[in-house]
Amino acid sequence: LDIKEYLKAKRTLIDAHLNSLIPEANFPYAQLFQAARYSLLGSGKRLRPILALAACESLGGDLDNAIIPSCALELIHTYSLIHDDLPCMDNDDFRRGKPTLHKVVPESQALLAGDFLLTYAFEVLAKAPNLTNEKKIQLITILAAKAGSGGMIGGQVMDIESVDKDIGIDTLRTIHQCKTGALICASVEFGGILANADQAQLEILRQFGNEMGLAFQIIDDIRDIKFSQQKHGRQIASDVINKKTTYATLLGIEEAHQVAFQYYKGAIEKLNTLPLKTSYLSKLAETIVCVS
Ligand code: IPE
Ligand code: IPE
Ligand code: MG
Ligand code: MG
Ligand code: MG
Repeated sequence: LDIKEYLKAKRTLIDAHLNSLIPEANFPYAQLFQAARYSLLGSGKRLRPILALAACESLGGDLDNAIIPSCALELIHTYSLIHDDLPCMDNDDFRRGKPTLHKVVPESQALLAGDFLLTYAFEVLAKAPNLTNEKKIQLITILAAKAGSGGMIGGQVMDIESVDKDIGIDTLRTIHQCKTGALICASVEFGGILANADQAQLEILRQFGNEMGLAFQIIDDIRDIKFSQQKHGRQIASDVINKKTTYATLLGIEEAHQVAFQYYKGAIEKLNTLPLKTSYLSKLAETIVCVS
């Protein structure tokens, strides 16, 4: 399978499971499910669940039992996007090829849809089929930590705090590591845990995830500038309007891309220390550093 076909196949698999995790409903609060489905289904690269599946596969794990836990990563990610786009945060009107959720439902309902996805992610993990309780607790603990104060939410706090401030590369790296890197790292860790990886293997996966998370956010910032129209439906980059410091604003697009590439190379070096068939994971990493 080439990487494009691999990604497509995995995306289809994940989409089918996401669709049944949050089905169309007709109970009194069905609008909550509709709102969650609006943001969750359709577009979205499914990078985090695919990273989990690819890591699991590399370590010879059972993919059938990995799909539902991987979907939990996408639920958390989608909640983070809904909240990230709110007027009180990045105030973006466009996401995943269509108007942001708060543009099509009241802001209060968008906020609640995010809350629901966050809460539901942990319910999904607690009820994941065919996993031991010990494994579920491991996954829940990792996700809570990496999506929480020491990870994504903490990173978003620092990101908002940094607006209009003169921050340097070191602070920026910390923000990226937390707001984006942590969930990417959790994704490959999920794959490792689901495949019964040992501590040494998990540590390598974490290092790989950390470096790829940094590369990923730099590329996202470059894309914000280069493809503002497609990404946010407007000419001026969202990060510019919001006065966000990025690698691209600090170093220029070219040099920022080189830094991302260095992180990618570091990630691949780490991965290659695993005596395993990691080709999908490394090809997946390669697609991440492509600005297109
Ligand atoms: C965008 O993530 C937000 C960041 C953390 C940079 P993705 O680029 O993975 O967004 P989707 O899931 O494909 O929409
Ligand atoms: C997103 O960072 C980080 C999240 C935790 C959602 P950005 O704010 O740069 O992501 P985009 O550019 O809106 O997708
Ligand atoms: Mg943001
Ligand atoms: Mg944003
Ligand atoms: Mg961005």
